[in-house]
Amino acid sequence: MHSDLREIMLTEEQISGKVKELAGRISEDYQGNSILVVGILKGAVIFLADLVRNITIPVSIDFIAVSSYGKASESSGVVQILKDLDQIIEGRHVLVVEDIVDTGLTLKYLLENLSTRKPASLKICTLLDKPTRRKADVVPDYNGFTIPDEFVVGYGLDYAEKYRNLREIGVLKPEIYSKI
Ligand code: IMP
Ligand code: MG
Repeated sequence: MHSDLREIMLTEEQISGKVKELAGRISEDYQGNSILVVGILKGAVIFLADLVRNITIPVSIDFIAVSSYGKASESSGVVQILKDLDQIIEGRHVLVVEDIVDTGLTLKYLLENLSTRKPASLKICTLLDKPTRRKADVVPDYNGFTIPDEFVVGYGLDYAEKYRNLREIGVLKPEIYSKI
């Protein structure tokens, strides 16, 4: 375990098992169609890479980068698109892939924005869900794990841009926060 972690919440095995399960459900639900998987940069990158490799229907990939103003660990609800999609989504089946839904404010804004572009369908797949902190009425269509209200890192999730490369998902030691 990384020495900055207090505990491991989800092991590599738990994550990979869940990713395969989600990919199986997605492949079944969209059977006969192709989908555009939209990753929200940067947190969703690792999850998306593993997810799409387990999906068996035709997949295209695009990315969108957003920033929410406010503290690093707290979403403010004011969202800015830093990098928009490259592709036109009108008439396509769009699956937005996110690392974690926390307050839901980021996703609520993004879904409203994307739905104005008239996709054939628009769904959300998140690896983690922290429903206790929800401020916007966002319900993920696919969710890997519902987790308690703790700040987690690893498998794409960062603290101050660190720990994205950890293979498992864990909780940082309290002293790590106070150092930065
Ligand atoms: P929301 O708008 O509050 O739902 O913000 C979701 C975004 O906040 C995620 O995409 C993450 O980038 C970040 N975030 C929320 N909770 C955590 C966490 O526990 N660890 C790392 N990033 C988090
Ligand atoms: Mg994110």
